Amino acid sequence: MAKFPASRATALSAALLATLPLLAQAAPATPPVPPHQKWSFEGPVGQFDQKSLQRGFVVFHEICSSCHGMRSVTYHDLLGIGLSPKAVTDLAHTRQIAGPPDAAGHPTLRPGLPDDHLTSPFPSEAAAAAMMGGVAPPDQSRLAAIQPHGADWLYAFLTGYRMPPPPGAPVVPGKFYNDWADGHLVGMPPPLSDDAVEFPDGTPATAAQQARDVTTFLVWASDPHRNDRHRIGLYVFAYLSGLLLLAIAWKRKIWKRGTLRNAQDTHD
Ligand code: HEC
Repeated sequence: MAKFPASRATALSAALLATLPLLAQAAPATPPVPPHQKWSFEGPVGQFDQKSLQRGFVVFHEICSSCHGMRSVTYHDLLGIGLSPKAVTDLAHTRQIAGPPDAAGHPTLRPGLPDDHLTSPFPSEAAAAAMMGGVAPPDQSRLAAIQPHGADWLYAFLTGYRMPPPPGAPVVPGKFYNDWADGHLVGMPPPLSDDAVEFPDGTPATAAQQARDVTTFLVWASDPHRNDRHRIGLYVFAYLSGLLLLAIAWKRKIWKRGTLRNAQDTHD
């Protein structure tokens, strides 16, 4: 067998080693994982905190909804976060919605009703994009479900603006530096600031608290039945555990009787 010259082998491994950094560069960079926050709704039995949901809705209603819609949610669905039927109707009424054209064919407006959806404030996606420097604000119904680390990413993103941007960061007019935005630049101006809203329950409205509560509300919007599902899951678990205990007790009883009889049999 021909001997492989040692010098060739060293040259080959040197060449391979030289390509390693290139390979590392070519591999797609995995997006950084946002820091984990503690959420009441996580885990198999987690439940949404109603107070946080209601504060989150205040943030959505007073800030986010001036640019974003939440099409999958109706005003009526807000009963699910503990708003009263009257509050829901009043809230819907504050909205002006396109109604059927009048007799002359002119467009009309009507007050919103509980069955109306939380639609975008812009008449169309194109109009939204034109008003917002080229990118339309995305619908918020499924925002929390689309992101791999939904809640943690939303919280990191909403608190991740840096003004001024760190030295050396690209500066693009109409774009804002955010640690957690794709390419660190986003077309949305920082939406949250301390005390921009007032919470009815008296919780201090820091920007971080608003981010936490609106994130909870966004996760609820993408999965409004989570509380019920988790509660039913607990009942089913308790029921099955009860059955298991009964089965164990029953088995013990039967086997005890069997052992006694066996003992008698051998005695006879
Ligand atoms: C002044 C209008 C405006 C307001 C107010 C606003 N947004 Fe936005 N938002 C935008 C625009 C425009 C985009 C698209 C930006 C882009 O993709 O560059 C956006 C994008 C986003 C994104 C997606 C970002 C991404 O990189 O995928 C999230 C999440 C978001 N907004 C959440 C919120 C929340 C939560 C609020 C309320 C606290 C809010 N926004 C308030 C205009 C707004």
